[in-house]
Amino acid sequence: MINEKLQCLFLSGAQLNRIAANFFYQMTAALAGKKSSLKILSSYLPAASGAEKGHFLALDLGGTNVRVLDIDLAGNRQLKLKRKHSFPLKTKNIDYTAHDCTGEMLFDYIADELAGFVEPKQTYLLGHTFSFPFSQQRANEAILSTWTKEFKTRDVVGYDVTRLLIQALERRGLVQITPTAVMNDTVATLLAASYQQPYVTIGSICGTGHNSCYVETKEQSNVIINLESGNFDGIPGTAWDKLLDSNSAQPGAQLLEKQVSGAYLGKLVGLIFDELIRVQAQGRDHVLSTQGVSLTGEDLSRILSAAQGQEISKQLLSHGVTLTADDCSLLQSITQAVVVRSARLAAASYSGILTHVDPNLDAMHCIAIDGSLYEKMPGYANELCQALSEIYGDKSKNIILKLVKDGSGMGAAVGAALSC
Ligand code: BGC
Repeated sequence: MINEKLQCLFLSGAQLNRIAANFFYQMTAALAGKKSSLKILSSYLPAASGAEKGHFLALDLGGTNVRVLDIDLAGNRQLKLKRKHSFPLKTKNIDYTAHDCTGEMLFDYIADELAGFVEPKQTYLLGHTFSFPFSQQRANEAILSTWTKEFKTRDVVGYDVTRLLIQALERRGLVQITPTAVMNDTVATLLAASYQQPYVTIGSICGTGHNSCYVETKEQSNVIINLESGNFDGIPGTAWDKLLDSNSAQPGAQLLEKQVSGAYLGKLVGLIFDELIRVQAQGRDHVLSTQGVSLTGEDLSRILSAAQGQEISKQLLSHGVTLTADDCSLLQSITQAVVVRSARLAAASYSGILTHVDPNLDAMHCIAIDGSLYEKMPGYANELCQALSEIYGDKSKNIILKLVKDGSGMGAAVGAALSC
């Protein structure tokens, strides 16, 4: 009974092919300027050659923590992280992602943290990774189109975040820092990977958020294009997906992201669990609920890797929920189904992009991926690989999946180097 209910989360090989074909179709429409759930956002940056050189500051803003990094590019495909500092966007007193906070407050906070990180007498060129949809007319401009990942900070949508950053640096007297490029985290990931190796075609994030970019080679443009693929809407959705969507900050938007990314998977597992536990608990006098417990990506990792139900119990107990052994195995099956679906959907979207770039998959392609889901969720990378081999058969050996740790931070330095 439970397994039947979970069956709707399983995507067959044929379904993956249909989703990939729809993705390709919508990408073609977007490239032709027609209506599409995908975007064509030029980064004004090419892939890296690996010869770029120098010392750069990187600012990585897009998840629950902001990071600043001090990076050396040696010019021989070697990049070296010298120092890094990370700080949360939700502090004890202020939630910088909330609506009662303004862009000015957010960037003043970042400038304060930068002040503590840089050497007072040194000058810096800064690359800025900003992991949201934005449009730009040059590499050093980013007009935020809309927030995603449940960010709500006021007075940023419609503004150029590079200007907001520069103004905050000036207010703080940090004139020795010069921002030279701003890029999406998928673009940064692609840049970090292409700095280190050839054939990088796609950059992707499978973490708190989800999105992909690619290198457009038509007419030798070689420019990296952000697709904002998290907004792709050509996917089947279950009643649980619809419920999650209608309770979200932006119903109807970011449908692929809501089925793929860590910001939503925990919520989805909780929703499904709350329904199926009622089915399983028939006759029991209490009905347990995870409502109010927000499972994080890390919780899901632990649920999946827990060898015994007991460990899962302990895990949820820390959230105030007590589970029986049966409840635990239900939770594990739901988590497994949701995580596998996420990986298969990501694979289908990559296939849609590859159809545009190389319809017969004749050449080698490296897909550079950063993000906690891909890096840490047990079985995720294998499921993605498995889905690609279902789609391509033998030819899938032409696809290399590369984990680019810290890609969104490291790539910011490469972007800064490319733009000066
Ligand atoms: C944003 C993308 C970003 C992705 C991964 C999404 O919510 O819209 O711009 O690349 O998250 O961080």
